[in-house]
Amino acid sequence: MVLDFDLGPATATLTPAAPVIPDLPKRADDRTANDRKRLINCETVDVNQLMPLKYEWAWEHYLNGCANHWMPTEVPMGADIATWKGNRLSEDERLVIMRNLGFFSTAESLVANNLTLAIFKQVTNAECRQYLLRQAFEEAIHTHTFHYIVESLGLDEKEIFGMYRDIPAIAAKDELEMELTAALLDPEFSTATDEGTRKFLENLVGFYVIMEGIFFYAGFAMILSFHRQNRMTGIGEQFQYILRDETVHLNFGIDLINGIVAENPQVWTQDFRDHLVSRIRHAVELEADYARSCLPNGVMGLNSNLFEEYVRFVADRRLERIGLPRQYMARNPFPWMSETIDLGKEKNFFESRVTDYRRGASLDWGD
Ligand SMILES: [Fe+2]
Ligand SMILES: [Fe+2]
Repeated sequence: MVLDFDLGPATATLTPAAPVIPDLPKRADDRTANDRKRLINCETVDVNQLMPLKYEWAWEHYLNGCANHWMPTEVPMGADIATWKGNRLSEDERLVIMRNLGFFSTAESLVANNLTLAIFKQVTNAECRQYLLRQAFEEAIHTHTFHYIVESLGLDEKEIFGMYRDIPAIAAKDELEMELTAALLDPEFSTATDEGTRKFLENLVGFYVIMEGIFFYAGFAMILSFHRQNRMTGIGEQFQYILRDETVHLNFGIDLINGIVAENPQVWTQDFRDHLVSRIRHAVELEADYARSCLPNGVMGLNSNLFEEYVRFVADRRLERIGLPRQYMARNPFPWMSETIDLGKEKNFFESRVTDYRRGASLDWGD
């Protein structure tokens, strides 16, 4: 079908009267001026006035997210099903996979809840909100991934999706996060005071730096260790896609945290910085406990000490990026993880899938 916008000759005599446009009241906080845009503390409910862009980084992260689009159902699971059902994995190896599926399956939805219920309301800048909408969709895709894996491998869905209650090392990580979300759902909560801004920053550090930047990384390294040995490659590929998305989420979060601090420097007191460092140190302990619960006996030459070292290394990098001092001076026991993360920038990585989506984006209205 070809759309036809030619409506034929005008029926001349009907000349519409010029519409009466009422004068709009002048707003005291007119945000049309780009230099009046702020990351927080503008109006919560307003038109999403995207342009002129002020925070170019937020728009760039949004474009990166769109360019990385993928769906879990595109990843073939045949080899994983044969490995899983053919009993080609040891009990310890199965435990590693089950625990990580259990943690990620619900962690993704905690991140999505926090984004939509807590962060979106407080971040009043339009280009950041545009990114948050994209991120929220990606978190839904990640949750979908675990549904797809559980279905493909015929796993006990109640066991996987119930681990956040049943496995203490997972429950401890999730509790820390849920408390942060709950604190912002208090109807009295506002970022209008320094205390409120600090509470909000604590939430952002708790989710972007701790959850997506630390709590995910022992799991990424465990699952990608299987992938490096050419086992469970379907799950491995899905985790590579998730890792690539999470890298953008982390980068956005760090830009947002640093941007809010730059606009509100009075909140960044020594006490507050010490408080954040101690929270991150606590998170590293929880992640080390989690690694021990996944790897009580070690697999593939890997043991929980190596993962603890890796988590410390990752935590130091996150601390530095938000202007806090390194705590551990740890070395990276898995240098191949950095290569995996950097692969996302290389030309051929994920090329076919990205190209497919780009091709699909030019719609054909010709028939
Ligand atoms: Fe995610
Ligand atoms: Fe994420």
